[in-house]
Amino acid sequence: MSTSGGADLVIVANRLPVDRIENPDGSPGWRPSPGGLVSALEPVLRANDGIWIGWPGGADGDTAPFEAEGLDLVPISMTPQEIEEFYEGFSNATLWPLYHDVVAKPEFHREWWDSYVTINRRFAERAAEVANEAATVWVHDYQLQLVPAMLRELRPDLRIGFYLHIPFPPAELFQQLPWRRQILEGLLGADLIGFQLSGAAQNFVRLVRQRVGHKTHRDVVYLPDGRTVRAAAFPISIDSAGYEELARSEEVARRATEIRDALGNPRKIFLGVDRLDYTKGIYARLRAFAELVADGHFDVEDAVFVQVATPSREQVEQYRLLRDDIDRLVGRINGDHGQIGRPAIHYLHASYPREEMAAYFRAADIMVVTPLRDGMNLVAKEYVACRFDNEGALVLSEFAGAADELRQAWLINPYDINGMKSALLDAYRADGRELTRRMKAMRKQVMEHDVAAWADKFLTELAAVRPSHGKSVRPARRS
Ligand code: G6P
Repeated sequence: MSTSGGADLVIVANRLPVDRIENPDGSPGWRPSPGGLVSALEPVLRANDGIWIGWPGGADGDTAPFEAEGLDLVPISMTPQEIEEFYEGFSNATLWPLYHDVVAKPEFHREWWDSYVTINRRFAERAAEVANEAATVWVHDYQLQLVPAMLRELRPDLRIGFYLHIPFPPAELFQQLPWRRQILEGLLGADLIGFQLSGAAQNFVRLVRQRVGHKTHRDVVYLPDGRTVRAAAFPISIDSAGYEELARSEEVARRATEIRDALGNPRKIFLGVDRLDYTKGIYARLRAFAELVADGHFDVEDAVFVQVATPSREQVEQYRLLRDDIDRLVGRINGDHGQIGRPAIHYLHASYPREEMAAYFRAADIMVVTPLRDGMNLVAKEYVACRFDNEGALVLSEFAGAADELRQAWLINPYDINGMKSALLDAYRADGRELTRRMKAMRKQVMEHDVAAWADKFLTELAAVRPSHGKSVRPARRS
């Protein structure tokens, strides 16, 4: 298809899969954005010559479709006030904390909700314009939960899927939301609703029964008009082979050695890689490491901690507070335990390309992933995919969706600092055989369940919910 025509597969996500950059000659350009959602969907979109509808970031008013990185992109614009109310407000200061176990207190504001409705309608209307007759539209994530019902009303011929990348909260928490019923009804516009874990799908079905009053049986909701909606788990993954290939490359190997040298070749390197988000448990993780140093289990010659924190949602107050807290903590830990030229914690507030991350994953002995709540956590899987040497340890929070699959990690409760300390120490002391045994099992899981398989499965099951309807979607090409 071309940017002016329609598409048989339309992806609708808050963000476009590209970031604005300035080319060396000063002209504006785009590069693929890092991050889970993008790497997850790019292959299936390419295989189907589909369209991706999303917000390019910023308050640019341009809505002309364009092509970048071989993808047909349809931008949705937002005014500065809409960014504040829909994106920073309702999406990231209401829904995000509410859906993550109220780790921070969600704020409820009626103007934010109004803006959420307006922007969801804007996305739905654009999708209705670009989708071909009987096309498949796949809507993504918590920012766009009203789109399925809005789109169904405009285009009943479409096959509509929805996937939630973050956790779906238990009923006790979801019920706090003043607009709980509208959100449930918005999602029910889809034929298939995918979640990371089966517990989340069950929470949703139970809420629909209790709050909306529809009949349900197992994972199926029966609507009064005869339509059925299925809610099930589809744990997301990564381009596993792509990461392994990167990690095997000579450049990455060279860069990994460089990183170890720059760190002074300590015996072990601990690594954390996260968006700078209060759900990620960065504060407690760094404290646990610092206490191990303070307790004399190792000094800065034996072990260093590298924390890469990608800047995120910097206009939202809770994120600013977190940044200050982490800055202070890192300063204090290094002041207490560092030596000249040897800080205990190397803190990088920056975002790096995939190649650089692969080098960090190869360089690190112990990957520390300790979110207080996380839908999946793709970093844990990326680390495993990069460890083709069957070495390296993973310390992983029980409250990350990935813990369901990566059972051979050192699983921890991120609220239990002592438990976390002993897991870090066990991982630090583990011998080669132990590391290999665990890593081999985790690699089998990650290499066999990649993102192409995830997308295939979702789209196949979406087609099965409406079998006599719509065109079929080609599976993603495997790399
Ligand atoms: C999470 C969400 C995505 C979101 C990403 C980055 O992974 O599930 O929907 O795009 O974070 O956050 P941002 O607010 O920068 O889009």
